[in-house]
Amino acid sequence: MRKKLLGVLLSVAMVASLLAGCGDKNDNTQTPDNQNETDDAGENNDGGTDDASGGGLVGVAMPTKDLQRWNQDGSNMETELKAAGYEVDLQYASNDVNTQVSQIENMISNGCKVLVIASIEGDSLGTVMDQAKEAGIPVIAYDRLIMNSEAVTYYATFDNYVVGKKQGEYIRDALDLDNAGDKTYNIEFVTGDPGDNNVNFFFGGAMDVLQKYLDAGTLVCRSGQTDKDTVATVNWDTGAAQTRFETILSSFYSDGEKLDAVLASNDSTALGVANALASSYKGDYPVLTGQDCDIASVKNMIDGKQSMSIFKDTRTLASKVVEMVDAIMKGGEPDINDRESYDNGDHVVPSYLCEPEFADIKNYKEILIDSGYYSEDDLK
Ligand code: BGC
Repeated sequence: MRKKLLGVLLSVAMVASLLAGCGDKNDNTQTPDNQNETDDAGENNDGGTDDASGGGLVGVAMPTKDLQRWNQDGSNMETELKAAGYEVDLQYASNDVNTQVSQIENMISNGCKVLVIASIEGDSLGTVMDQAKEAGIPVIAYDRLIMNSEAVTYYATFDNYVVGKKQGEYIRDALDLDNAGDKTYNIEFVTGDPGDNNVNFFFGGAMDVLQKYLDAGTLVCRSGQTDKDTVATVNWDTGAAQTRFETILSSFYSDGEKLDAVLASNDSTALGVANALASSYKGDYPVLTGQDCDIASVKNMIDGKQSMSIFKDTRTLASKVVEMVDAIMKGGEPDINDRESYDNGDHVVPSYLCEPEFADIKNYKEILIDSGYYSEDDLK
């Protein structure tokens, strides 16, 4: 995704000025044993020692290149860390936990000073996290919390509860549920990977808004599938969401019954729902939520096939994490704005939560184009 070059360069300039004083020391070498998803997916750096300018090797472990956002996250992190004078070992793991574990092992043995990890499954990194702890390497959980590990030093993410809440509120307001009187509306639910701790917050935040309308009978879920595990989508996979939704449509909405709303926790699952609607539903498109403002979903928004998405500016998160890394490397305390929400089962992890906002047909130009996140051409 090269579309954001200008935005990235601007962010880089900002971060570079913030972190002025750091020297540049990059001597990256591609190695054949990198377990990358694509040929440009990662770099391996030998060694990584502190120098007077504050540089050192930072390991950045990303889950997959399949979803647009992780490509943006990885490339923003890499660009900004390099601009701040650090060496970067960026790896993508094809959504395979074992691959991610061995990538992190390599980062540790290559002498990285800080690990930034967007985990595939929050609960599956156990042993390698212990290795990081033993080696005294601080770990920043990136976007997704790493669970049940004492090795997690900090967490940086968007406010995941607020993401879900905004999705629920969007449905509430679009259907005007508070003034529904005796009217009832049909709704279905699709959330993400059961191993992703964020799902608890996305789904929890949305249900904290919508549950009372289900209880009151204003919202009706014809499939009866309302619990988190039943509505989960392994790996947030578009195809899996589509298959499940086609079954729901043919089983519960083939008799002309109208589907009014679908809570989808993110864009990859919303895309699966939109595909299923296109193939298996004859009525008007329901209110359909999403998250990430992926290009495919923004195009669907413009075409009236998805109602909203949550915009999480990956530039903001990357900048925040680079600030965290820099504070750690210089022996300081990173900026923290939440010390209570994210208990990983071992301890409450000091966190920085960025603010998400919703985008829909009315405001997407202002949020996505005027901010330089996308160009008009990206969305054609
Ligand atoms: C992220 C979402 C993303 C999803 C699928 C979640 O952990 O917070 O932004 O859509 O993973 O990759």
